[in-house]
Amino acid sequence: MANQDDIFKKVISHAKEYGYIFQSSEIYDGLSAVYDYGQNGVELKKNIREYWWKAMVQLNDNIVGIDAAILMHPTTWKASGHVDAFNDPLIDNKDSKKRYRADVLVEDHVAKIEGKIEKEVKKAAKRFGDSFDKDQFLSTNPRVLDYQSKADSILKRLGKSLENEDLADVKALIEELEIVCPVSGSKNWTDVKQFNLMFGTKLGASADTATDLYLRPETAQGIFVNFLNVQKTGRMKIPFGIAQTGKAFRNEIVARQFIFRMREFEQMEMQYFIKPGTQKEWYETWKEKRMNWHLSLGMGEDNYRFHDHEKLAHYADAAADIEFRFPFGFKELEGIHSRTDFDLANHEKYSGKKLQYFDPELNESYVPYVLETSIGLDRMFLAVFSNSLEEEQLENNTSRVVLKLPAVLAPTKVAVLPLLRKDGLPEIAQKLVDELKWNFSVVYDEKDAVGRRYRRQDAVGTPFCVTIDHQTLEDETVTIRHRDSMEQERIPLTEVASTVSKAVDLKEWLQKL
Ligand code: GAP
Repeated sequence: MANQDDIFKKVISHAKEYGYIFQSSEIYDGLSAVYDYGQNGVELKKNIREYWWKAMVQLNDNIVGIDAAILMHPTTWKASGHVDAFNDPLIDNKDSKKRYRADVLVEDHVAKIEGKIEKEVKKAAKRFGDSFDKDQFLSTNPRVLDYQSKADSILKRLGKSLENEDLADVKALIEELEIVCPVSGSKNWTDVKQFNLMFGTKLGASADTATDLYLRPETAQGIFVNFLNVQKTGRMKIPFGIAQTGKAFRNEIVARQFIFRMREFEQMEMQYFIKPGTQKEWYETWKEKRMNWHLSLGMGEDNYRFHDHEKLAHYADAAADIEFRFPFGFKELEGIHSRTDFDLANHEKYSGKKLQYFDPELNESYVPYVLETSIGLDRMFLAVFSNSLEEEQLENNTSRVVLKLPAVLAPTKVAVLPLLRKDGLPEIAQKLVDELKWNFSVVYDEKDAVGRRYRRQDAVGTPFCVTIDHQTLEDETVTIRHRDSMEQERIPLTEVASTVSKAVDLKEWLQKL
């Protein structure tokens, strides 16, 4: 069986080979942790964004969208706490001269312990067969319990030290766990230091008058500063939400794992403005709603889990991640944060403007609390893409590479293939393409044997192939081939659009929410 590294390497090379993701400025040897989306990547990304936007904005009467600018008044970042508190704890290895995020070194160590738990589960599942009860095993097996308690106590201590800004203890923890530098293999560490993640830039031409700005490190602040604009002009009543998708920038030090952690990335965020005191209930509600959104895509319930934060960000009174099983293990995909009135209250303080809501039921004004859901679009892309890529062994001793993207997200929904480049077949195929392209993205492909064309579409993730052959000339039927099952059926030419529509229609998918 291929190991995690090999699987991940395949994901990266497949993404490049099939026009999904390229290294930025590749001809100049690339720019670290910055990526470009190719002709298929841009479509998949757009479809994920739309799947989120429809579920969030279109299907909720009380959530509206905005599109705020990337550049914001510099005081925004003072008020939001990012100037003072948006730091990563860094540590250098004196031998390799490599720099690491101290918390990531510890978390990677914990992931190894969790890997041991997974191994125990796999072993036991094999031993006990159908009678295996995973939950019972996890809660009773002494070895697993020992691993779990080790992992929990390490994370708890890390969380506490970071919260108390006790960087000496973070270093002590790294030393006690005997964590070695992955490059030099040595334990020769410097002290842990804080490093701000925001990218600075300048507004204005002259060196004396230019203002220092930051590229936004999260889209959320564009929503907070527009809270009253939207509430007043949209006559919104609490509870209500404002949603936004857009670029964010962070000068990440540990920029690795492909598009998992990038320096320029896109977020899809929603701030839900609520009455103070109701945050616990909304926190639970949004955790559930967001998990359901993920599950609606059918990528396997076992691939998701919640992780409650020990270390809370500077703005939160509760926070959880939805973690996904990436090729390199379970990692954060989305955050659900109870942000209290931290942001609005601070913007009031720094701007001197009231950011309050008059509640007609209570007959009083208050600064609303905020419940936030925040997901990285690129990270969601990686989750979908890596989970979909499979190498299948077929019955006739061959194999195929297939990208089993949820059909609703696939860049191209249908490929139309004339069996031969003659006898009027290309003309019928082209006519079908011209008809279908009004409804969804479709490609025409007449090159190579039809089997090879099927494989090409499998690898790029196209859910349907429609073949026009000589029988089409006689009875106006076509063969429609399903990507995942490879089953083929004969249907009337006139039913192609409705068959594909049903399988890729957003409504069919979002109704599962
Ligand atoms: N407004 C809250 C916020 O920004 P966060 O946990 O820092 O919270 C939210 O980020 C989400 O954004 C993460 O769950 C992740 O999916 C994505 N994200 C954060 N940093 C990222 C990076 N460097 N590259 C790609 N995605 C990132």
